[in-house]
Amino acid sequence: MRFKLEMECSQRQKDSNIILALDIASTSRSNLFSKSLKLLEQVHLYICAVKLNHHLILPLGLFDRVHQILRLAHRYELPTIMDCKINDIGSTNKVIAENYFKAGFDAVIANPFVGWKEGLQSVFEVAKRVQKGVILLCYMSHEAAWEGYGQTIQEAKTDTRTLQYVVFAKKALEWNADGIIVGATYPEKIEEIAKITTNKVPIYSPGVGVQGGDIQSAMKAGARYLIVGRTIFSAPNPASMARQIREEAKLRKL
Ligand code: XMP
Repeated sequence: MRFKLEMECSQRQKDSNIILALDIASTSRSNLFSKSLKLLEQVHLYICAVKLNHHLILPLGLFDRVHQILRLAHRYELPTIMDCKINDIGSTNKVIAENYFKAGFDAVIANPFVGWKEGLQSVFEVAKRVQKGVILLCYMSHEAAWEGYGQTIQEAKTDTRTLQYVVFAKKALEWNADGIIVGATYPEKIEEIAKITTNKVPIYSPGVGVQGGDIQSAMKAGARYLIVGRTIFSAPNPASMARQIREEAKLRKL
C-alpha cells in the first residue's frame, strides 16, 4: 500500500494524527534502547506513526537496535519515518534510501534543495519500487528557516521572482510526494502551502509545544499530522500527554 494511504489508515484506526518524534537522549546506549521501547509501549495507543532521526540511529545502529525498535513499532501497527533529510547526489541518495527502507522504515524525509535529476529522482524511484514513502521538506520549524526556505528566488522554469518554499510546494505536487513538512511555528505558511498544493499533499507539522507552535493554529491552518517529541517524552506522564495532544488536535473537527 502506498505510504500516503498507509498513514490515512493508521490515522483512522488509531483515531490520532500525532506522530511521535522518538528523540530521547541518554549517556548509556543500553539505557537509550530500553527507554525507547518503554516510551513506545506507553504511548502507542495515542499516536499514528513514529519518527526517528539521528538521535537514535547514531548511538544504536540502523540494523541493530533501531531495527528492533522499528519491529516493535510495526507490532503496534505504527508506520515508521526516518527523518534523515536526504541531501546528497543521486547515487549516494539511492544508497541512503535503500538502507533505511531495508532496515524497516516506511518513509524517508528528503530535501528538495538538491533537485530532481541526479538529486532526488533516485530516492523516489527506490521508494516506488519497494512501495515506501518520501516526504519533502518545505518550510522548516526553526527560527532561521526563512534564511533558506523563505528566500525570494528567481524561478528557473518561469523566470519570475517567487519564494523558495512556494517552488518546493509545487515540486511536491509534481514529484508526487507522500507529504511535505511545514513547521507548526509558521501557521501562515501552512495555510499558504495547503492552498498551493490544493490539499493534495498532506502536511506534516513539527514544532508544537517546546518549539512554540500551537496545536490549534497548525490544525486550523491545514496541518494533517503533528510531529511531537519533547512535549510528550519529557512530560511526567508521556501517555497522558500524548492522549491530551491527540484530543486537542481533534477539537479542530468540532
Ligand atoms: P520537538 O521535541 O521539538 O521535536 O517536538 C520535533 C522533531 O521534529 C524534527 N523537526 C523537523 N523535521 N523538518 C523535519 O524534517 C523540520 O522542519 C523539523 N523541525 C523539527 C526534530 O528533529 C525533532 O525530531
